[in-house]
Amino acid sequence: MHILIVIFKNLSMKTLLSTVSLVCKTWYRMARDPGLWHHIDLQHQHKADDRVLWILTSLSDRVVTLNLCDTKLISSDCLMLVAEKCPSLQSLVLTRFFGVVDEVLGCIGKHCHQLLNLHLEGCYRITDEGLVKIAEGCERLRQVHLSRCSYVTDKGICALATKCKYLQQITLENCRKVTNNSVLALAEGCPNMEFISLMFTAVTDESVQHIRKMRKITVLDLSSNPSVNPRSLASITQFCSKLECINVSLNEQLDDDCIIEIVRCGRELKRLYCVSCAITDRALIKIGEYTKTLVTLDIGWCKEVTDEGVCKLSATCPTLRYLGLIRCDKVTADTVEHLVSQFPHINYSTFLLESRKLIEKARQGGFQFNDDINQ
Ligand SMILES: *[C@@H]1O[C@H](CO)[C@@H](O)[C@H](O)[C@H]1NC(C)=O
Ligand SMILES: *[C@@H]1O[C@H](CO)[C@@H](O)[C@H](O)[C@H]1NC(C)=O
Ligand SMILES: *[C@@H]1O[C@H](CO)[C@@H](O)[C@H](O)[C@H]1NC(C)=O
Repeated sequence: MHILIVIFKNLSMKTLLSTVSLVCKTWYRMARDPGLWHHIDLQHQHKADDRVLWILTSLSDRVVTLNLCDTKLISSDCLMLVAEKCPSLQSLVLTRFFGVVDEVLGCIGKHCHQLLNLHLEGCYRITDEGLVKIAEGCERLRQVHLSRCSYVTDKGICALATKCKYLQQITLENCRKVTNNSVLALAEGCPNMEFISLMFTAVTDESVQHIRKMRKITVLDLSSNPSVNPRSLASITQFCSKLECINVSLNEQLDDDCIIEIVRCGRELKRLYCVSCAITDRALIKIGEYTKTLVTLDIGWCKEVTDEGVCKLSATCPTLRYLGLIRCDKVTADTVEHLVSQFPHINYSTFLLESRKLIEKARQGGFQFNDDINQ
């Protein structure tokens, strides 16, 4: 029986409940072994309701991870009872669980003191009040994801930054009320910060000064913050030498000099996204010269880039595996065709190539195009 339980641990929840359980009475009982129910994943289970959640969280007395992403029928009352019943929870995913309100966060803060990861993307009803409760109760938090929680302001983020000093990851995408003050608080309160997403927030150029203090940062998303100045951003990789991924897309101030400097000092830089920036062939040529690490580069919508820059970069950057060129209108289709065969290790992405991939995928999926039928 012990060996069977070990084997059952590798099965999905669905298999356990709808296959293993039906074999015989012994297997039915074994499928309910507490050791199999520390991790409960109801992601996308649109039919899962309060009863299902309650039964599954009652099988073991030590639920460690719970994923309720995109569930539709579970009530916030039930979620609060579950939070109270699961004090060992370390990871709680509530992405797009629209019933999450401050009262729910208060309950989580009150009972789930072991929590390390909390996903609240799209839980648009929460406010600072709830976050303060989380900050007070869940001091061990490592990751908090708050994208599209648009009522959240600096007050909530500062509470987290002050109380949760082990915080490593935070996503604040589309939290439009979050400003420089939050970034300052995170830089001072959380020395282990590794991952910060500030896309579409209200932060300004001043935040770059604070980010420089985050010496362990590996992923930084500063896209869609057009006030970030190329002069202050250029030195980011000198200060944050562990930076592996940076997104500075949608900032028309960002020029060749800035991007060149980021790449030149970025010893660990693997992914660089600068969609719709003011860069030209000069940056591409220098990137090829300087980098020994870059794997992914997206320069879509950089309208001044031409065939010359793209060819030189492809030839001089042996680590490159992906080059995004959507709407680089001065790069010709013929040149890209040529590059695709000359550098097969690089994925080029253009509108034409992506359309072809889509058609190919549809064909493999069994879709028949008129052309196929005529052949
Ligand atoms: C953010 O920094 C800018 C200076 O770069 C300053 O003008 C602005 O007032 C600051 N905003 C906040 C909310 O601190
Ligand atoms: C980079 O930023 C752009 C614009 O904000 C966004 O659309 C894109 O998803 C981001 N890419 C990555 C890989 O984060
Ligand atoms: C490159 O393209 C191939 C095929 O379309 C895909 O399987 C692979 O994941 C892509 N690699 C990257 C880095 O995007």
